[in-house]
Amino acid sequence: MSNDADRGLARGLTHYGDGGFALYLRRSFARSMGYSSALLARPTVGICHAASDLNNCHRHFPELIEAVKRGVLTAGGLPLAFPTISLGEVFLHPTSLMYRNLMAMDVEEMCRAQPLDAVVLVGGCDKTVPAQLMGAASANVPAVQLVAGPMMSARHEGERLGACTDCRRFWARFRGGEIDRAAIDRVETRLATTAGTCAVMGTASTMACIAEALGMTLPGTAAIPAVHADRLRAGEETGRGAVALAASRLTPDRIVTAKSIENALTVLLAIGGSTNAIIHLTAIAGRLGVRVSLARLNELSDATPVLVDLKPTGSHYMEDFFAAGGMSAVLHELKPLLHLDCMTVTGETLGDRLAVPPEWVDRAVIRPLAQPFHAVGGLVALFGTLAPNGAILKRAAASADRFERAGRALVFTSPADLAARIDDSSLDVWPDDFLVMQNAGPTSGYGMPEAGYLPIPAKLARAGVKDMVRISDARMSGTAYGTVVLHVSPEAALGGPLALVRTGDRIRLSVRERRLDLEVDAAELTRRRAEWRPLSPPARGYQRLYAERVLQAEDGCDFDFLRAAQR
Ligand code: FES
Repeated sequence: MSNDADRGLARGLTHYGDGGFALYLRRSFARSMGYSSALLARPTVGICHAASDLNNCHRHFPELIEAVKRGVLTAGGLPLAFPTISLGEVFLHPTSLMYRNLMAMDVEEMCRAQPLDAVVLVGGCDKTVPAQLMGAASANVPAVQLVAGPMMSARHEGERLGACTDCRRFWARFRGGEIDRAAIDRVETRLATTAGTCAVMGTASTMACIAEALGMTLPGTAAIPAVHADRLRAGEETGRGAVALAASRLTPDRIVTAKSIENALTVLLAIGGSTNAIIHLTAIAGRLGVRVSLARLNELSDATPVLVDLKPTGSHYMEDFFAAGGMSAVLHELKPLLHLDCMTVTGETLGDRLAVPPEWVDRAVIRPLAQPFHAVGGLVALFGTLAPNGAILKRAAASADRFERAGRALVFTSPADLAARIDDSSLDVWPDDFLVMQNAGPTSGYGMPEAGYLPIPAKLARAGVKDMVRISDARMSGTAYGTVVLHVSPEAALGGPLALVRTGDRIRLSVRERRLDLEVDAAELTRRRAEWRPLSPPARGYQRLYAERVLQAEDGCDFDFLRAAQR
């Protein structure tokens, strides 16, 4: 049984008719940690963090968590740090996305089950921030997000490097024979050299900006580099803010609303953010009964210019973005496009936060609304006979000369098939072909990997081909670029039209018309559909649960049983 009227350590007591004994027992054990009576009587602030030796992006968390504790203590709260599972992007098999929902369940249940008046969510690496926001939204505890902050860039032979756009750029040069093994080995030691999340506007930085746009962080904190002293000050201030939240009881359902989700979509488009963020934002919104429409994304995309010049679509790094004015400057420019009455975690509206313009903005990195880098948003949704429920293209990172064309499909039936054949010197492939990969979607067993950035076949890469149209039901890293159509839905593993494509078919792409069509006659598709057989599901455990209950990309790849009824 629980008693929601109680606060602090008395919150959520389990008892069987004698609540006094349950509290006495809990306080007895709490005293074994050496806290004084005065501290134990304070409001409790959980510090829900994802520190792990298998997450390089979070390696500064011990120091950051200490800063949060300082803030909580000085504001009169009792800080109680606790770990959840962590998702180190490159250390998980098959994908970190598959475990995002597991981490979200961990966060939700621990935020709800433990006696916490408010929670600071400390995350950063790609899937951790969405998992924390999803979990906190479902638990609906007062919560404030504190992100890890981005890595600093490094140097290689006079050139700046940052994970992971430059990882791909140098690997492409290595595949194309431009640099040798010794050079790529030297680059490997210089790509990721500090704590923090990837140094460009990849998924982690996009989600940090989205968290700020939603009003779930303190203002101006999304882009502070991980190793900057301001990051520790942000930690301390966030701790103080959490104590205020414990008093105000301002819950995520009052902050994450249809309007603030639309603000977040606008920011996503204006920063040329990661395609993954659409999936995550849809999942976060779904936890509070808000639906994200891809048709609405297209409307916003046509009305929202790209204001920042950051890799992978531009030339700067996240540390430059921070120094240029960061999210405060972007939000200020976007004011005419935003819902300013949205509540934020500090109790101010977004409009209150943006009342005073930033003192200085570096216009080489963040442009005014009237003079954007691109007139339209970075992402578009495509629909058509190949993607009845939608697909995503990051047009800001694509080659515009490939936007209106038809091509011959060259089909790979799975990521494994791709790996086996893509560099085969006898592969029948031409620069204008459309590379198609099937069976890499949410239920495929591959966990919707970031494999949609199909490598250019080695023989074409050596001939200087830099981009091709690539189509799949997979995702793409936020740090990648190219004419890459992703998240095709329904996925091939569910028998979507993508499953029916064969090498030699014609596919038509029209970004102008937002279309992706398979130009094969209906009778032939009916014949192929009769031949289609579903894949065998994983035998057991979480992977089985995932395959059976995960939703498609347009529903955020959340579990069907975790979404809220539509508001
Ligand atoms: Fe953690 Fe890129 S690997 S943010």
